[in-house]
Amino acid sequence: MKKIISYIILITLVVLLSGCKNNSHKKIGILIYDKEDTFMKEYLTSVINTIEEEYYYEVGFADRNQLKQTSQFINFIDRKFDLIIVNAVDRLQSGSFIEKAEQNNIPLIFINREPQSLLNDSKNSYYVGSDSKNTGLLQANIVKEMVTNNKIKDKNNDGIIQTIILKGEQSHQDSESRTIEFIDSLGKLDVSYELLAISVANWDRKQAFDKMRELDQMLDNIELIVSNNDDMALGAVDYLKEKYGEIDLKIIGVDGTNSGLNAIDNNEIYATVTNDIVAQTEAIKKITDYLLKGIIDSDFNYEERFQLIKGEIVKK
Ligand code: BGC
Repeated sequence: MKKIISYIILITLVVLLSGCKNNSHKKIGILIYDKEDTFMKEYLTSVINTIEEEYYYEVGFADRNQLKQTSQFINFIDRKFDLIIVNAVDRLQSGSFIEKAEQNNIPLIFINREPQSLLNDSKNSYYVGSDSKNTGLLQANIVKEMVTNNKIKDKNNDGIIQTIILKGEQSHQDSESRTIEFIDSLGKLDVSYELLAISVANWDRKQAFDKMRELDQMLDNIELIVSNNDDMALGAVDYLKEKYGEIDLKIIGVDGTNSGLNAIDNNEIYATVTNDIVAQTEAIKKITDYLLKGIIDSDFNYEERFQLIKGEIVKK
């Protein structure tokens, strides 16, 4: 019985993870660092919806394991895929991916996790991701607007906003730049704040919940939570609801995932900055059509190897 169930699961996976309308279509391999990542799930759906009519595709999920991803990558290379979209587990690994792809004349599009190597020197590899500095600035603009309109409850009446930051994965360019730029911009905007803690929760809702528990002693003093993504913001929401039954501070996220936007509707999260999946997918499609079909969109700058897409503020 166990065997039959595993077999059914395997078949379902194979059907879900590849798509083909026509055998003559060019083949695209897609590598995703973790299939449990909420944002990447929505991103992958959007990429698939955009390419599936015109290209054959297969997806490999790495479960945050670089060795697994490398073997999936080699598999696509050996099977002569025409292009590989890489959401790298370890950004340091990207250099060896670029080298191997060039030896085999296969273009790469890195997405969301920026390669730490000389993409500009590569023949035909690209990066598509969010403009994370801009995201940090927009989060600071949200805080400025809240201060101006007295929307943050000053629990201890000191005129200073007691703040914590929930940070994504260390060394991920989005966690680092969003955090640094947010802090810098608050200073430039003359916002009086006190940073009580920066807590790393690796983009994950459950880990953010646990981090909030660790910060429990200071919870009564916190007036603002700024999170590097919506999922960690939701982890904070979960904890505050469990502890107090209500949320009496302001929370800001990033991404605009479906669950993040719902939380804004329900007044649990105050605002988010989008990590624009539609615009990023469009850029991926344009680069793909250019590399695999020679289609040129005169409005698109193919010289720019780092396509950084700006987000927008969403609030109620
Ligand atoms: C997103 C996170 C996501 C991470 C994955 C970030 O840009 O904001 O939600 O978990 O990318 O690499």
